[in-house]
Formats: sequence, C-alpha cells, structure tokens
Amino acid sequence: MNSSESSPVNADIDPANLPCHIAIIMDGNGRWAKKRILNRIEGHKKGADVVRLIVRTCREIGISILTLYAFSTENWQRPKIEVAALMSLLKNFLESEQKEMLDNNIRLNAIGQIEKLPEDVQHVLHKSMTLTKKNNGLMLNLALSYGGRAEIVRMVREIATKTKEGKIDPDLITPELVSDFLYTKGMPDPDLLIRTSGEMRISNFLLWQIAYTEIFVTKTLWPDFGKQEFLQILKHYQRRERRFGKV
Ligand code: IPE
Ligand code: IPE
Ligand code: MG
Repeated sequence: MNSSESSPVNADIDPANLPCHIAIIMDGNGRWAKKRILNRIEGHKKGADVVRLIVRTCREIGISILTLYAFSTENWQRPKIEVAALMSLLKNFLESEQKEMLDNNIRLNAIGQIEKLPEDVQHVLHKSMTLTKKNNGLMLNLALSYGGRAEIVRMVREIATKTKEGKIDPDLITPELVSDFLYTKGMPDPDLLIRTSGEMRISNFLLWQIAYTEIFVTKTLWPDFGKQEFLQILKHYQRRERRFGKV
C-alpha cells in the first residue's frame, strides 16, 4: 500500500449523497499479468488485494451494500487450471477475511449458483455468512457463478411454478414481485456500477437491477485500481443528475 492509498477519507465527498449500493465488475486481472509477462493467476492474486482495499474503503465511508462480480456463469468455460486457482483464491480470501468482517460489522452475502461451487468453498462461504449474519454495517455481496440471464430464468421458473399451484395471481405480477424472486431480494438496486479495464459492456451482470444505475467505466485494470480513483468516481457520481425518466 502506498501513502496515497492510506490517506483519510476525502473531504470533498458529500456524506449525504452517497450511493447506497455500489456494484463493481472487477475486470482486467489477466491483462495486468500479461503486461508484466506473468501468469494470469498472478493478476487474480493482486486483484484479491484490491478487493480488500475497496471493501475497507466502502466500510470507512459508510456504503451500505457493495456487490462484487467475482465469477460469472460464463467464467466456468475458462481453462480448468484458472478456474481452480480462482476457487482457491476465493477460499483463501474468505478464510483470511473472516476476522476483519467480524471486527468491522461486515455482513457477507453471496448471489449466484452457490451450489455449483466446489464443496470446500461452499463450506467456508456458508460459515462466513452464518458468522456475520447479525452484522449490520457494510453488506459485502459476492456474485459467484452469477449470471443475470440464469437469475432471470430461475425467477421465471419459480413464479411460473407458484402460479401453476395457484399461489400467485398472474394479474398481480409486478416489478416488485419479480424483484422478490431474484438473488438480490430485499436489496435496493445499485445506484452506481463501476467497470474496470475499459470494456463497454455489462457481461451478464445484474441485468434487471441496473435499469437506472449510473455507470462508470475506467480504463484502469482492476489490480491497479485504488482508493483515490474510487473516491474520484464517487465525486463524479455526486455530480450526476439522476432523472429516472422524469424532467
Ligand atoms: C477479471 O479479470 C476476473 C474474472 C473475470 C474472474 P479477467 O480474468 O477477466 O482479466 P482480463 O479481462 O482477461 O484482463
Ligand atoms: C466479467 O468479466 C466477469 C467478472 C468480472 C467476474 P469477463 O472478463 O468474464 O467478461 P468479458 O468476457 O470481458 O465479457
Ligand atoms: Mg475479463
């Protein structure tokens, strides 16, 4: 960590106008490693350190929910060795952060096809979620084997089943009801979505939830992302006029 990374929270940020829910597509680990002629896995390792830093920053400034896209449904198609390394890093991360989460009132939650993760990862994940479930500070929401389309299919299936059973009246299906059948049930939609490493796409992330989210794309690769740039994006966010379709 350099000195700028450990500097106090920036005074230019208006605490009354903070995004409640921030979502991040953490992209660019592979390119970061490639630039240094390193293995992609080294990029993922460095990326995990940045996750720690951004979680800490969100807690310090009082963000309610931070949703991190850590592994997509499509990422299973990467080489087996990379998938295994990512799962092992995830397990290490969860184990090493348990104390920090407990000490700092952080609640861990996961969204996605958790049942598809290796059993040892599921085990530490469930343990951390159980241990932190009464915490009411920052909610760290990890998207793991997450895909927006798969989430929507799951929601349609559940609503269709309940409709068939006579438990849901089709005339009473509203956006609010749909939201209640998504992994993010009970959470406000993201106010801010950040994507690192410059790609102008959503890559199957939170398709329903980002209807009115403010989007920021930075060219910085995720392992190079840091507190100062994050705070800078928050400042930009505070200057945006959110209209929600009105005048
Ligand atoms: C993001 O970095 C991490 C995951 C998707 C798991 P990438 O691995 O996608 O890095 P690039 O896009 O190849 O640089
Ligand atoms: C999105 O990044 C998924 C995560 C950050 C976990 P990808 O690297 O998988 O997305 P694409 O391939 O650039 O769309
Ligand atoms: Mg990528």
